[in-house]
Amino acid sequence: MVRSLTEAELIAAGEALGRGLEPGALLTLEGELGAGKTTFAQAVSRGLGVREPATSPTYALVHRYAGRRGPVFHLDCYRLRSPDEAADLDWQGLLAEGDAVIVEWPERAGAWLPPPSHRLRLTHLPDPDRRGLEVLG
Ligand SMILES: Nc1ncnc2c1ncn2[C@@H]1O[C@H](COP(=O)(O)OP(=O)(O)OP(=O)(O)O)[C@@H](O)[C@H]1O
Ligand SMILES: [Mg+2]
Repeated sequence: MVRSLTEAELIAAGEALGRGLEPGALLTLEGELGAGKTTFAQAVSRGLGVREPATSPTYALVHRYAGRRGPVFHLDCYRLRSPDEAADLDWQGLLAEGDAVIVEWPERAGAWLPPPSHRLRLTHLPDPDRRGLEVLG
């Protein structure tokens, strides 16, 4: 099911997801450029208690924020030139230490990505003010 959401609704959905997220979750966000992955990741982080202003991680692979229960890691795999660059990431360490790990462009990490606990996809819709939010698993 694809939910059609305004930006305010998408943010509210992300915050609600973050508030209810189990410790150690690995959340992947698929979707084209500008689909709202970073917007959603920031909302999830807020739901996890992150208060600092989150910046788009497009130019840094891993951002670390302090959440209510522990660190929240936000990764953007867009800049990986090949999946093998994801081999250098300490995925198990991030998952062990993090209260949550949120990954944009997970498909670029290929088989190095551990099994996600929540897979979501954001899509563009004909209405430029709305985005589709789909739970893939
Ligand atoms: N309903 C909506 N939900 C989310 N963002 C929206 C919505 N409507 C408009 N927008 C705008 O779309 C843009 C989404 O940008 P965002 O950086 O979150 O996308 P992204 O998927 O992370 O892109 P990238 O692949 O470049 O990292 C923002 O400028 C936001 O204001
Ligand atoms: Mg982004």
